[in-house]
Amino acid sequence: MTLFDALEQVYNEAQAALESAMVSAELEAWYAAYLGRKGAVTLQTRAVGQLPKEERPVFGQRVNEVKQALEDAYAARAEAIKQAEMLHALESGAIDITLPGRPVTQGHLHLTTRTLRQIYDIFAMMGFEVFEAPDVELEAYNFDLLNIPDYHPARDMWDTFWVQTPPGEPRLLLRTHTSPGQIRAMRERSVNQEPLRVVLPGKCYRYEQITARSEHQFYQLEGLAVGRGITLTDLIGTMHQFAELFYGAGRKIRVRSSYFPFTEPSVEVDTQCILCGGKGCGVCKYTGWLEIAGAGMVHPVVLQNGGYDPAEWSGFAFGMGIERPSMMKYDVSDIRLYYGNDLRFLRQF
Ligand code: PHE
Repeated sequence: MTLFDALEQVYNEAQAALESAMVSAELEAWYAAYLGRKGAVTLQTRAVGQLPKEERPVFGQRVNEVKQALEDAYAARAEAIKQAEMLHALESGAIDITLPGRPVTQGHLHLTTRTLRQIYDIFAMMGFEVFEAPDVELEAYNFDLLNIPDYHPARDMWDTFWVQTPPGEPRLLLRTHTSPGQIRAMRERSVNQEPLRVVLPGKCYRYEQITARSEHQFYQLEGLAVGRGITLTDLIGTMHQFAELFYGAGRKIRVRSSYFPFTEPSVEVDTQCILCGGKGCGVCKYTGWLEIAGAGMVHPVVLQNGGYDPAEWSGFAFGMGIERPSMMKYDVSDIRLYYGNDLRFLRQF
């Protein structure tokens, strides 16, 4: 048999074998057997050297034709098998389009955010708008402008996280309370000498031991009203209205005198215990009352630092924690749960 005949024989054989390849695995085996590095057709090309010189080009050309024809046939067969296999997979139910979808779990707002929004709503009814101030604050806003100079013992009330700043530059800190926002809000509004009524929510930071009752990060909501002729009675009325709307109708508040450098007079506001309603229990330590806010009339020096003449303007301010009231309202025993990101806790609200 001549080499030419042998080539044609291999060609015929390959075509027939391809016809009978039914699945991908068989197809791959076919390719290796004929067109692979040691395949029958490939071996034919190597035999060209055995031919007399003048026959070589003709043989070479034929080998190339055969190779190309088989490559094309292989590609067509591969596509056909792929289609057939996909159809088979669909028909045999490997992809069951009637299966119900996987449930999409939907998140919801964090308990703190929900509590804050309830509180915004209550103050919005009383004409307070939300005013945002930064977490990283200048020392001057957090302390000095609030009438707390460097040497003042009241600085001990707030253990501070300081932010490193180059020597000689104004010192930065993580705000220890939301009160610095009072200065920011006043400076913005006093430009046009307008009255203002704002609530300032935000996270505060104190360098403190973490326990079930205190975190080194927590939310506060500051309130500030500045106008002409605002009195302590307005503050008390506002606090009472808040207590009724947030803790429940008929709730009483009481006001005790206190001290803050930025308010004068200063008070602490209590509301009847949410658990026992005033009878006395473990939560209120048998007093019947729970503290809800520090507050007072804005100190004249602070009004002045905010750009308002204390001879003409007056105002009240209050600051309340957010987690503690929410702990009482939702019966949460540990403040650390608010920062733990444990879904078992968060999903309950
Ligand atoms: N900033 C005070 C605190 O963190 C609370 C407060 C705010 C008191 C406004 C009076 C007026 O304890």
